[in-house]
Amino acid sequence: MISNREYVARRRDLMAMMEDNSIAVIAAAPERVRSKNTLYPFKQSTNLSYLCGFPEPDAVLLLIPNRQQGEFVFFCRDKDPLRETWDGYRQGPNGAVHNFGADDAFPIDDIDDILPGLLEGKNRVYYSIGKDKKFDRQLITWVDDIRDKKGSDGQSLGEFIDLEHLLGEMRLIKSAAEIKLLRKAGDISARAHCRAMQKCRPGLDEFHLQAEIEHEFMISAATGPAYTSIVGGGKNACILHYIENRTKLRSGDLVLIDAGCEYQNYAADITRTFPVNGKFTACQAAIYDIVLAAQAAAMQKIAPGLAYDLANRAAMGVITQGLVDLGILNGDVDELIAQGAYRDFYMHNVSHWLGMDVHDVGDYKIDNRWRVYEPGMVLTVEPGIYIAPNNGNVDEKWHGIGVRIEDDLLVTKNGYEILTDAVPRERQQIEQLMA
Ligand code: GLY
Ligand code: MN
Ligand code: MN
Repeated sequence: MISNREYVARRRDLMAMMEDNSIAVIAAAPERVRSKNTLYPFKQSTNLSYLCGFPEPDAVLLLIPNRQQGEFVFFCRDKDPLRETWDGYRQGPNGAVHNFGADDAFPIDDIDDILPGLLEGKNRVYYSIGKDKKFDRQLITWVDDIRDKKGSDGQSLGEFIDLEHLLGEMRLIKSAAEIKLLRKAGDISARAHCRAMQKCRPGLDEFHLQAEIEHEFMISAATGPAYTSIVGGGKNACILHYIENRTKLRSGDLVLIDAGCEYQNYAADITRTFPVNGKFTACQAAIYDIVLAAQAAAMQKIAPGLAYDLANRAAMGVITQGLVDLGILNGDVDELIAQGAYRDFYMHNVSHWLGMDVHDVGDYKIDNRWRVYEPGMVLTVEPGIYIAPNNGNVDEKWHGIGVRIEDDLLVTKNGYEILTDAVPRERQQIEQLMA
């Protein structure tokens, strides 16, 4: 759990980076309609969650450094017994003050009357534009109204500054409490992958394995999947974001599962690829071992002080060499790397930041140079090889083989810790678990 004290520290740290006489505006995520009056499961804005943990839609958080009457101002839905009977509990402004530490809280319906007065005269407005077009327009309308009222001198309100960058830098380095939650998400997800390996047999459908995975998530108190689970049998593994999950699993094929849970707002992201009948064929094993070696080579390049792209390059090197050794690529390895020949078979990057969002916030480059790792960063390492079923340049025996191996790593003082180590990735270990 994230303590109130940690939320207070996060808000304090953000305000310490803001310029004098400024305000930060962070809106809750909107609810999204799935069909008529049923909604998609609500997913809170991770920035708002990060700063206060408030779980409801229709809320706006303001941070106003040095405001005498309180720096943390909040708007949320008012209490409403009828709506609460239909849709669930609401904190109301009182709850925002007592349970979430707001200095001042108001009903969201009053925001038009109150917020412009708080914006007025500020030199800077910190805001993450482009995430919620409706709220973008609302904010611009308030700002326009203030400017109109004061005339066209532009003195009344200064410029917008992108909040995403500041929060991205903060969220990139995980605290001890966040690491604990990421470990837990990793553990649950690893257990889920083990369960899928043990339950797998020819004749099941992809969705059976999805059910096994998500069953383990839910009985472990995870919120659910952190992203739509991918279960691709046979050539479906070559579709990177395959989420139909409705094909029968066949003996002799591999199945690729990319699935991770969200636990108390923190995500895991694991991929394993294993044989439906429990035994790798020679061709599958050959491809699998290249991907595994690429992952190991990439992990070797993860330690404080090393640049972000070294892992990517290590994986590219191993994959290109491996494909040449198997005769799938032909030519000089360095030239093939320079030409990007591997891109036909490996078309994504080897990693991304991981945290409250599965593709988490934080810049990958600083001043156009790859940034270096620091303790507390969390990232995936996920090389893959995907041989399209219709690739006419490649011997048929390789067609439709798709392999990805993905784990989540915490950068530590001396290197890294694998947060998802509890699910096997060596071929023999996988075969043993499935036997
Ligand atoms: N599950 C999405 C990804 O691996 O990036
Ligand atoms: Mn993944
Ligand atoms: Mn990933």
